[in-house]
Amino acid sequence: MAYENIRLETEDAIAILTIDRPKALNALNSKTLQEIESALNSLPATARALIITGGGDKAFVAGADIAEMASIGAAQAREFAALGHRAFQTLEQLPIPTIAAVNGFALGGGCELALACDLIYASEKAKLGLPEVSLGVIPGFGGTQRLTRVVGKMRAKELVFTGERLDAAKAKEIGLVLDVLPADQLLAHCKAVAGKMLKNGPLAISQAKRVIEFGADQDLRAANELERQGFAVLFGSEDQKEGMKAFLEKRAANFTGR
Ligand code: CAA
Repeated sequence: MAYENIRLETEDAIAILTIDRPKALNALNSKTLQEIESALNSLPATARALIITGGGDKAFVAGADIAEMASIGAAQAREFAALGHRAFQTLEQLPIPTIAAVNGFALGGGCELALACDLIYASEKAKLGLPEVSLGVIPGFGGTQRLTRVVGKMRAKELVFTGERLDAAKAKEIGLVLDVLPADQLLAHCKAVAGKMLKNGPLAISQAKRVIEFGADQDLRAANELERQGFAVLFGSEDQKEGMKAFLEKRAANFTGR
């Protein structure tokens, strides 16, 4: 499928989605959000991990498109937020691991896009933040909620109220990014992390992601029940039989995702 503002490539079993709208530092207008959602819904069946990054050497994504938002009213703003929420929820609920390779500015909707990924790695050049209050609005693509869950309520309030832009080192210090890499090593690092995951059982990773995601919003007993269900269901899979048999036979497992 031909896209205007994104590129979707696959390298081995790793899909790479590049937000590529350089004239606006990859800002997310409605079309780009629709393309992201459409690409996520039509990833090749062979894709077992997804990396999201930004085109060009300056930005991951510089936010939602301010030019598009400038003259809209409340009803359209609600629709725009709903579009972002839907696209990012689709991302969050993909059954494969997702990695944000934050190669530059990840502001507003760009930071929110990264937060909807399972893991975030940043280049030394990255700048992250939620500057929406400087525009007279609040984050509208899940940032108030996902940032709070990642860095805690007080730090999230500090970042949202000040609109401060963090450099990569500070973002790492507060747990917003996992690691900081030299710019020319970021993508290779993300591929290497994905590569480690590819060696493991895809159904197991998918269940682990599901129970961590859904469990995080529940009390411990309910969350542990989710874990029990996820654990049990895997015992009906060929991958569980193969993984344990391979261990006992002292060889590498050959997982098929069945
Ligand atoms: N929307 C639309 N266009 C954007 C944009 C955005 N979020 N960010 C950058 N651009 C455009 C600029 O308007 C500029 O276009 P022109 O060349 O046509 O003038 C082009 O990209 C290059 O940007 P700058 O000239 O500003 O580049 P810079 O290097 O001087 O600054 C920057 C880079 C600090 C990222 C600056 O562009 C900036 O502050 N961008 C806006 C960041 C922001 O506020 N993001 C939050 C948006 S609101 C949001 O995301 C709401 C939500 O949660 C749903």
